[in-house]
Amino acid sequence: MTDFTATRAMFHIPDGVIYLDGNSLGPLPKAAEARVARTIREEWGELLITAWNKAGWMAQPARVGDRVGALIGAGPGTVVMGDTLSVKVYQALASALELNPGRRVVLSDSGNFPSDLYIAEGLLRTLGDGYELRIVAPEEVEQAIDDSIAVTLITEVDYRTGRKHDMQRLTRKAHDAGALTVWDLAHSAGALPVDVTGCDVDFAVGCTYKYLNSGPGGPAFIYVAPRHADRARPALSGWLGHEAPFAFEPTYRPGRGIERMRVGTPPVLQLAALEAALDVWDMTTMEDIRTASLELQNRFIAGVEAACPQLELASPRDDAMRGSQVSFRHPEGYAIMQALIARGVIGDFRAPDILRFGFTPLFLGPDDVDGAVKILAEVMERSLWDRPDYKTRAAVT
Ligand SMILES: Cc1ncc(COP(=O)(O)O)c(C=O)c1O
Repeated sequence: MTDFTATRAMFHIPDGVIYLDGNSLGPLPKAAEARVARTIREEWGELLITAWNKAGWMAQPARVGDRVGALIGAGPGTVVMGDTLSVKVYQALASALELNPGRRVVLSDSGNFPSDLYIAEGLLRTLGDGYELRIVAPEEVEQAIDDSIAVTLITEVDYRTGRKHDMQRLTRKAHDAGALTVWDLAHSAGALPVDVTGCDVDFAVGCTYKYLNSGPGGPAFIYVAPRHADRARPALSGWLGHEAPFAFEPTYRPGRGIERMRVGTPPVLQLAALEAALDVWDMTTMEDIRTASLELQNRFIAGVEAACPQLELASPRDDAMRGSQVSFRHPEGYAIMQALIARGVIGDFRAPDILRFGFTPLFLGPDDVDGAVKILAEVMERSLWDRPDYKTRAAVT
């Protein structure tokens, strides 16, 4: 059994804060601060450009990719780090479409993160030629998979409600219909058990600044199933995805396997932070994380429903249908969240009316949940949110 007191000690959580937003930006792992400082001083500072070889910077995206891969059921050499998730969505979708040349339809759902939909829109506009983005309600995805679909582009866990798709079932249905699958694991990696190999997923992408705690702007990852890795043609054919980047040839030749999904210079400092952040996974298992996360979520749901009848649960009640976050609805959700943040309970708000709370046992325990419920109850009971300054929206909600 995981010692969650020990994992909690690995993170810096400011005094007086109950942090329920690790689903948006993970907190600072203490080791990341030291590792980045060391990378700056000893590698960048002392080794200068020779660090690309001497400190292993060039191999870092694949090395870290293997560690992230282990958390999503991906074998060594199938995951590589770099860029942002939006870029990785583009790469995965472009390659998947090219591997299914007879078809023109990308299927996604209205619960998908807007960036995924925008990226798909942009890519399909570039491809022209009758390509179509078909968006259905999340509950209708399964029945919408038919033999017109080239690729399904689905985010496993809904960023607003925490609703979770059945990856195995939808992937099987897609394959039976002759479609390929791209899964966005932004709210899954580090939050719950994922098995891209067991589910036979074609492409998967995700970010690391949420449950993997790499810090703001941390690099994304991309997984390509081994059966596609040497066939997938990179749409973003940057020099570091070339077979021989330092041959500086005038024409592009894709690198071997997953290496071809690299684009340009990797974010070395962010990768250093991520590498240190990943050490916490040596102390736990995804199964322990999931069990403890569900306990925290259910404690929160029960507490809030008992104390705050004004709030409506927006997340599925069934554990199997929910990721690692719990959302409630209220027309004044934004102001309520500001009142909570002012009292040290940090969650976030998603338009139009969603209060989001993320639960990871890596740094949260039952006392945090009880403390958050108590403060939320007070905010609601005494309408502490009803102030003009809490209703003025900041750029980031
Ligand atoms: C599901 C999902 N996909 C894509 C993105 C976009 O990620 P990025 O800003 O790293 O490109 C996010 C960001 O939160 C997300 O939650």
